[in-house]
Amino acid sequence: MHSKTHEAILVVDFGSQYSHLIARRIREQNVYSKIVSHKITPEDVKQQNPKGIILSGGPASVYASGAPRCNEKLLYMDIPVLGICYGFQLGSQILGAEINSSENREYGNTRCTVKDHSTLFSSLDDSIDVWMSHGDQAMELPDDFQSLAYSDNCPYAAARHKERDFYGVQFHPEVTHTPSGKQILNNFLFKICGCSGDWEMSSYIKSAVEKVQKQVGKEKVICGLSGGVDSAVAAALIYNAIGSNLSCVFVDNGLLRMNESESVIKTFKENFKVDLHFVNARERFLEKLSGVTDPEQKRKIIGHEFIDVFKDEANKIADIKYLAQGTLYPDIIESVSAHGGPTVTIKSHHNVGALPSELGFELVEPLKELFKDEVRKMGSELGLPDDIIWRHPFPGPGLAIRIIGDITEDRLQTLRFADEIMIQEIKSAGLYGKIAQAFAVFLPVSTVGVMGDERSYENVIALRAVESTDFMTADWVKIPYEVLARISSRIINEVRGVNRVVYDISSKPPSTIEWE
Ligand code: XMP
Repeated sequence: MHSKTHEAILVVDFGSQYSHLIARRIREQNVYSKIVSHKITPEDVKQQNPKGIILSGGPASVYASGAPRCNEKLLYMDIPVLGICYGFQLGSQILGAEINSSENREYGNTRCTVKDHSTLFSSLDDSIDVWMSHGDQAMELPDDFQSLAYSDNCPYAAARHKERDFYGVQFHPEVTHTPSGKQILNNFLFKICGCSGDWEMSSYIKSAVEKVQKQVGKEKVICGLSGGVDSAVAAALIYNAIGSNLSCVFVDNGLLRMNESESVIKTFKENFKVDLHFVNARERFLEKLSGVTDPEQKRKIIGHEFIDVFKDEANKIADIKYLAQGTLYPDIIESVSAHGGPTVTIKSHHNVGALPSELGFELVEPLKELFKDEVRKMGSELGLPDDIIWRHPFPGPGLAIRIIGDITEDRLQTLRFADEIMIQEIKSAGLYGKIAQAFAVFLPVSTVGVMGDERSYENVIALRAVESTDFMTADWVKIPYEVLARISSRIINEVRGVNRVVYDISSKPPSTIEWE
């Protein structure tokens, strides 16, 4: 769907933590971008027919042995190339420059003077602030290169090759700390690559619908709804493509938030006349989880049980050939990253909620080229309510990993009430949309309190609220004291069995977002 129907920019990944960000910044300017491995062949590039190529940054030094390199022909294909940091050093090295470890390392905000406003720096001031993060740099470049900007320590903060369409910046235009970065990328896309900006959600939806129709034809598709935005948007899109040939399955595992299953069912019944199968599997899950306290064990049990329940339900629907999954672009990028791939298992997220290939279905993954914000945009254009589109992410194992230790019906009920109060208060303070994830956690420790004249000895609720863009790192949110005070007093007054509320002030890393 990408380069065949949309103009595309390829972001060649050398293992930079910012490669995602480069791709997003480009898409924000209505140009489709795709992250590809640095091992991409010139033939593959030719086939994808990009308007431009960006060589990403990366943690290595270009002269280190084993440093990732790209095929040198990429710089000789008559396709404009922009190298960022490592990508700049590598590109200039391929074109004949010598790159050295520099005494003048630069990290953080740096002021640059622009020498040439004709291309990359068109419509920018003479002096700009940029974000640097490099040890190596080109102190001298051959005569074929022209410096476009310099800083105190970096004579080639930006440069271009005089003959080839190769441009390079030593700084990071993709991060918000480079305020003119958006304009610099815009100049590359529109002035240098000649893009027209044809990446729009409405046209993307049209081609995504056609693609689903072409893939599945008259066959039937099944989709598991979780209540989250990804599966809801995938289902809505597929419904638009094939209507009643889509069946959705919603499993209530007993680990959902307050009124969650009712609200998902209502949304799908009201907005789409989709064939919806509701499975009440609460007892089945809770029985299997009885007495289990280890978080990974909980995840495994829930994952397996979900597959079994889903399989049973799918068997009741005749002739299903395809399974729809709400896989997003970031879920698949790891497989192309230079040094990518998960290292140690901190939590086995990816094993929960994903359905295995043994189910025997072929996959339909209509969101796999999209970032989360694009999925939300799509959902909104497809008519899904804001409540689903902007809902905070909720883990597959649900409240099971927000009750520390044993899961019981009583604890689930206590946690649901506390969680609901927290969310209500955050919403009424106008904070919900500014927070990436907020929730309550049940702590099975009894602490002493005094209620009226009575001594109480009851449980603790911890509140967690984080800001995050990618959920890989997160900061705890500085919720105003008066909001915290309201949440705390309401929980203690309204939720039976709780006499203490604490606020989690740990960031990730080292603390993960969920407590288990
Ligand atoms: P952590 O706790 O690792 O969470 O900082 C990062 C993000 O992942 C979610 N999460 C999960 N999602 N199954 C899921 O589907 C899981 O087992 C799981 N554990 C954590 C978490 O809510 C946060 O958004």
